[in-house]
Amino acid sequence: MTGAGGVLTGRTALVVGANGLLGRAIATALGHAGARLVLAARTAADLRSLEEELRSAGIEAESMPTDITEDIGVRTLVERAATAGMDIAVNNAGAAHRPAPLGDLALEEADRVLGVTLRGTLVAMHYELPALPSGGTVVNIASTAGIAGAPGMSAYVAAKHAVVGLTRTAALDYAERGIRVNAVAPGSVESGGTAAQPEEVRRRIGSFSPMGRIGTAEEVAAAVLWLASPASSYTTGAVLTVDGGRGARGA
Ligand SMILES: NC(=O)c1ccc[n+]([C@@H]2O[C@H](COP(=O)([O-])OP(=O)(O)OC[C@H]3O[C@@H](n4cnc5c(N)ncnc54)[C@H](OP(=O)(O)O)[C@@H]3O)[C@@H](O)[C@H]2O)c1
Repeated sequence: MTGAGGVLTGRTALVVGANGLLGRAIATALGHAGARLVLAARTAADLRSLEEELRSAGIEAESMPTDITEDIGVRTLVERAATAGMDIAVNNAGAAHRPAPLGDLALEEADRVLGVTLRGTLVAMHYELPALPSGGTVVNIASTAGIAGAPGMSAYVAAKHAVVGLTRTAALDYAERGIRVNAVAPGSVESGGTAAQPEEVRRRIGSFSPMGRIGTAEEVAAAVLWLASPASSYTTGAVLTVDGGRGARGA
């Protein structure tokens, strides 16, 4: 199935952090909606296999292995995406750490997480925003850890709160240029560290949400697609939670 006639037909999306279940689901959802794709992450082999899978579904895609902690590489990536007509940028790359109270968290580990999740997103946005045309959109993947604290996750929580701050501030700075900037804040979803847990642990994590389960990567990708599409044309600076209702409990 190609996205001919889809809501993103004629659009070009850069997906930074296109590997992993969530990155792949986002790329697939945007591609099936008609977008041409520029895919980036560090692992070239995984990017290539995604690119081939998308192409075999009739979706136009190219990949550029990139480490978002290297500024020049990010600049080159965004220049390439802009040449391809980028009008959507999704920033999904992120890194977490093992849970530990801040006093027990190695500072090198905190630097690594902040470097990818906070600084990497900031650098990507620094290059993407001026390269986007009026009508362009940025969608950042934050987290419910960007809205509230999470025990043992200080550096990750700090980085994701910063991603929310970057999203809101860029929304204000770029609204007059016709560029919308939003974030999706997933709760626990089937990807990355959550997907790597044993079934029993995943069930227990899921039981904390009112819906009684963890989310799928496709459910998060559907929110990204909405924010990337003209269907959300009056929405900017928003943080859309996709968490099975967990945040509705409040404090
Ligand atoms: N899974 C969850 O429950 C959950 C919940 C809330 C928010 N999130 C957020 O969702 C996003 C995706 O996470 P995930 O759970 O799918 O984890 P993941 O499988 O580890 O995916 C992380 C993504 O970021 C890329 N990446 C990591 N470091 C990078 C770097 N230095 N440069 C470029 N790309 C880099 C990875 O590809 P390479 O390794 O190939 O570089 C991959 O595409 C993250 O921002 C995460 O914080 C996840």
